[in-house]
Amino acid sequence: MTTLGTIAITVATISGITGALAFLLSLANKTIANYGEMKLTINDSKDFTVDGGETLLSSLVDQKVFIPSACGGKGSCGYCKVTVIEGGGQILPTELGYVTPDEQKEGIRLSCQLKIKTDMKIQIPEELFSVQQFEYRVEFIKEVTPTIKHLRLMLPEGEELQFKAGQYIQILAPKYKGNDEEVYRAYSLASSPLDKKAIELYIGLVKNGVATTFVHDYLKPGAKLTVVGPYGDFFYQETDREMVMVAIGTGMAPIMSILKFMRDSHIKRKVTFYFGARTKEDLFEIDTLEQLEKELPNFRLITCLSRPTEQCQWTGEKGRVTDLLEKFLENCADQEAYLCGSPVMIDSVMPILMAKGMPETQILYDKFE
Ligand SMILES: Cc1cc2nc3c(=O)[nH]c(=O)nc-3n(C[C@H](O)[C@H](O)[C@H](O)COP(=O)(O)OP(=O)(O)OC[C@H]3O[C@@H](n4cnc5c(N)ncnc54)[C@H](O)[C@@H]3O)c2cc1C
Ligand code: FES
Repeated sequence: MTTLGTIAITVATISGITGALAFLLSLANKTIANYGEMKLTINDSKDFTVDGGETLLSSLVDQKVFIPSACGGKGSCGYCKVTVIEGGGQILPTELGYVTPDEQKEGIRLSCQLKIKTDMKIQIPEELFSVQQFEYRVEFIKEVTPTIKHLRLMLPEGEELQFKAGQYIQILAPKYKGNDEEVYRAYSLASSPLDKKAIELYIGLVKNGVATTFVHDYLKPGAKLTVVGPYGDFFYQETDREMVMVAIGTGMAPIMSILKFMRDSHIKRKVTFYFGARTKEDLFEIDTLEQLEKELPNFRLITCLSRPTEQCQWTGEKGRVTDLLEKFLENCADQEAYLCGSPVMIDSVMPILMAKGMPETQILYDKFE
C-alpha cells in the first residue's frame, strides 16, 4: 500500500471513532443528563413542575419568580442565594466563595450554580413574589458625562412599580452585534417612588461591559427594554436620625431617589450628602442636587474632586470623600449613613464612620460589584 493510502485509511479510522464518540456523548446527554420533570416546592406552599437539569435560578425565572441575580448568573455576585431544604446535594466549588460555612449549615445555596436533578424544596423571602417583569419604553437617554447616561423609562399603560427609595432593578440586555447572550444587570433606581409612571437610571460605561455597551451604543429612545424588580435591602429608613450620605460616580443614583422621595413626602430630616468625583466633568446632575438643596430645608450638599484639572477651575473641596468625612463629620453616634458606589470606597468609609461613633447597624450600603 502507498503512503497516501495509509494516511487515507488512518484519517478515515480517526473520523469514524470521533463520530462514534460524538454520537455516544449526545446519546448520553439525552438519556443520563435527561432528568425529566421535577417538583419544585417554594415556602411549603407553592408547587411547580420544572425541567430537571436546568439551574434553579432559570427554573424560577420560567415560573416568573425573580431572584436577584446582579451578575446575570455568572456566579460572581452572590445575590441569588436561596435556602434549600431538600434536594440540593453537595455544595459546589463555584459556590464556596459566596456561601459562608454558617450559611452552608442553614442550606443556603447560589441558585444560579445549583442544577435541579431531583425534586427540590426551597425557601425564599415572601417579598420576592411581588417582583415584577415589565417591558418599559425608553423615553429618553441623555449623556450627563462622557461615560454616564441618564435614562427615563416609561411603564406600560396602567402598570405601577411599587418600590422603596434606594432599591434597584435589573435590566435584560439582549443579544447584539458582538454579544451573543442575554444578560441581566443591576441598576439603582434614581427616581422617586412617588413618580408612578416612569423610572430613571444612571448607567456608567464599563469598557467591554456587556450591558453598558448595549445601553451606551445600541439602546435608543422609543425602544422597549425588559426590566425586573424591585430588589434590595438598601432603602430609606423611617427613623428620625440625622442622615449622612456618601457616594461616588453612579453611586449617586439611589441617593438621588431617596432625596427626591424626601422632597415629595415633605420629610424635613437633617441630611448631608458627600459626593465625590475625579474631575468637574464627572460631577454630574449638580443642578438637580442644588435644586433639591433649595427644596429640602435641612439638606446640605458637599462635593469634592480627587483630580481637578486646570480646566476645572475648581475652588471647592479637593481630595476623596473620606477626606470630607474626616474634615466635616464630628461624633455621629446618633446618625445613620447611606453609602453607595464601588466596594473600595465603601470599605474605606465604614471604618471612618465607626471611628466617629456610628454603630455598624446604622450604616447601610450598596456595593456596585
Ligand atoms: C445592587 C447594584 C446596583 C448597581 N447600580 C448601578 C447603577 O445605578 N449604575 C451603574 O452604572 N452600575 C450599577 N451597578 C453595576 C452594574 O450592575 C454592572 O455591574 C455594570 O454596569 C457592568 O455591567 P456590564 O454588563 O457592562 O459589564 P460586564 O460585562 O459584567 O463586565 C465586563 C468586565 O468589566 C469588569 N467590570 C464590571 N463592572 C465594573 C466596574 N463598575 N468598573 C470596572 N470594571 C468593571 C468585569 O469584572 C468584567 O471583567 C450596580 C450593581 C449592583 C450589584
Ligand atoms: S446570579 Fe450572581 S452569583 Fe448567582
